[in-house]
Amino acid sequence: MGDSCNIPDALAAALRDARHVCVLTGAGVSAESGVPTFREAQEGLWAKYRAEDLATPEAFLADPALIWRWYRWRRGVVADVEPNPGHYAIAALADLVPRFTLVTQNVDDLHRRAGSRDVVEFHGNLFEDHCFAEGTVHVADDSHDIPTCPQCGANLRPGVVWFGEAIPEQALEKACAAAADCDVFLSVGTSSLVYPAAGLADLAQQNDAVTVEINPNPTMHAERFDFALAGNSATVLPELLELLSP
Ligand code: OAD
Repeated sequence: MGDSCNIPDALAAALRDARHVCVLTGAGVSAESGVPTFREAQEGLWAKYRAEDLATPEAFLADPALIWRWYRWRRGVVADVEPNPGHYAIAALADLVPRFTLVTQNVDDLHRRAGSRDVVEFHGNLFEDHCFAEGTVHVADDSHDIPTCPQCGANLRPGVVWFGEAIPEQALEKACAAAADCDVFLSVGTSSLVYPAAGLADLAQQNDAVTVEINPNPTMHAERFDFALAGNSATVLPELLELLSP
């Protein structure tokens, strides 16, 4: 898997005619940059750590220093890698269609570093700190083991969505509106297991969008998509871009 795959003519036509393209990305898009995914056996982050120990508000309250150590390690991993051709293709695609919305479940900032603008960060951003008490947003402060809020003194926490927490309201609204409005919806590099992100494809389909999964390992939901392209995002996305390039 992962080699170049043929783009069906009907999909190429839908993309060329699209008024609004919406792309949802997951950890697989950053895999070829060297960022571990979450659920893949052996390699996924959650295969090495128990999510409930590291990604819940309860875990933070119990041991904020441990949680900060883990998130600082993740910041380091991501800061040391570069966006890959999949990220760059998405950024370029935005300029070739009348309207474009990028929704990402990734917190690694690689889409922005590849040049994407107005990224809808569904699960937050690893490089922001949030006040645990008031939710205010602050620039990442790695100078203290447990940074504190300059306004109220409460502990700062990583600016990512943890298990059991709500999706940031604006991100949820923008993502749902885009999924409901688009003509083509691409679900790229995600296992489509985590809701509400996984439900965006259903919303697109209910509103008559052409839906596409791009994943070297077709997911259990692949049959629900109009097209399932079995390939790596860093290969398939540049091929889609090529189709649209003048
Ligand atoms: P997962 O780890 O669940 O899934 C990654 C998907 O990427 C898998 O289906 C792989 O087959 C696919 N994949 C691997 N390499 C790829 C490549 N080169 N090109 C394309 N696809 C590839 O990651 P997500 O679906 O992103 O949430 O996980 C969703 C959420 O679960 C994450 O945002 C995170 C996690 O808990 C939070 O942190 C809130």
